[in-house]
Amino acid sequence: MTRAYSISVEDVTAERERVNQDLSQVDVSRVIHLDELELAEMGVRDVRLRILAVSAEHNVDHAALADTVNIAELRGGKIYPGNSALGEVVAVGGDVTRFKPGDIVITHCNGEPDRFGFPKVIWAYDKPDSTGWYAEEAVVADWQIVPAPLECGLNLWEIAALPLRAPTAYHLWRRADGIFRVKVPEERLARMNVLGFGGGVSELFLMLARARGHNAFFCSGSPERRAALEAQGIPGIDQKAFNRFASRGDSKAFVKEVRSLTGGEGMHVVCDMLRGPIFDAGFAAAAREGVIVSAGWQLTRDVGYNSAAASIKQITLDHTHYETLEGVEAATELYGSVFKPTIHSEIYDFEDLPRAMVEMHENTQTGIPIIRVARDMPDSVAALIP
Ligand SMILES: NC(=O)c1ccc[n+]([C@@H]2O[C@H](COP(=O)([O-])OP(=O)(O)OC[C@H]3O[C@@H](n4cnc5c(N)ncnc54)[C@H](OP(=O)(O)O)[C@@H]3O)[C@@H](O)[C@H]2O)c1
Repeated sequence: MTRAYSISVEDVTAERERVNQDLSQVDVSRVIHLDELELAEMGVRDVRLRILAVSAEHNVDHAALADTVNIAELRGGKIYPGNSALGEVVAVGGDVTRFKPGDIVITHCNGEPDRFGFPKVIWAYDKPDSTGWYAEEAVVADWQIVPAPLECGLNLWEIAALPLRAPTAYHLWRRADGIFRVKVPEERLARMNVLGFGGGVSELFLMLARARGHNAFFCSGSPERRAALEAQGIPGIDQKAFNRFASRGDSKAFVKEVRSLTGGEGMHVVCDMLRGPIFDAGFAAAAREGVIVSAGWQLTRDVGYNSAAASIKQITLDHTHYETLEGVEAATELYGSVFKPTIHSEIYDFEDLPRAMVEMHENTQTGIPIIRVARDMPDSVAALIP
């Protein structure tokens, strides 16, 4: 048995009833509970992990709210969430050759690749029978883990921030770049204008754009997160100065600002992730031949847009999800050199994970939230703990 967090449909329903279905009033800490889980028996290709640290991920918020789908219900009544983790290998099955006890690894959440490598389902979310890593121990198959790049220059918490968000950002980038280049080859325009809205994935996306030599802009409501990106050469746009695009006038003022920042051109690439008013603002800010990518729908699932305007401006909307296994390895190579994540000021204890999720929900964190799961850390990572 191991201690592990769970979300049950009874708790989701009870909390929604308590707040009369007003999702803005939901207290996610009443839905995410510390539970116990029997670990799966080890197979010959399995690896047992002691989880050292995890990042809080927004899909857990979606699971607790049941605002997109009621995943606990769809999964038969309960899920054990958590699909981003850093762990120590403690045992390996007989056919495992790539890992040995003592290795430090990171997970990825591609639950089942389709024939081109893209995930059909996500681990610890809609993959049947999958149990997540907001737990003290876990059993995973060897293809689900990647050696942690301990020499990359990041500290342990920064490495723990990236297993889910960095492959997502990497995939968004290679799709956006590839699509734009179908329309406008490099010799016609080498330096693109790239816009990302608030959130950990977008921040990493912009770091990649900047590292590839493009103009990157971060439109966020958080002064701390804007300052962190500005220190990496990515200027901020204060989203709250435009009231998060509450009115038409706010959006118009935002587009005017974008035009002035880009010499009248607009954004060749936009990373959305949130939808709702963010989608409309990104659409309006897009340059001719622009590409708008998203792997998220935090504010709304559905979008509406003027298809004639999109055609006339040659704008492409692309929907991505998560990386292929090869893409996950490639994204991991960029830890430290490109991906330098902003970490929230508090490192939460394992018992405080529900509070970390509440603070994520309330959007009061100053960076990616990290939960320290293991009290005793292996000697191999001691020097990486700030
Ligand atoms: N498909 C995938 O593989 C994948 C992977 C990761 C995430 N996602 C999804 O993508 C979305 C974003 O994830 P993330 O990890 O980047 O999120 P995150 O790091 O938790 O950041 C969320 C951001 O949302 C912004 N925000 C909060 N309330 C807002 C509002 N009312 N209006 C505008 N912005 C608001 C905040 O930005 P500011 O306050 O700074 O403006 C905050 O930093 C989530 O829905 C998540 O589930 C999908």
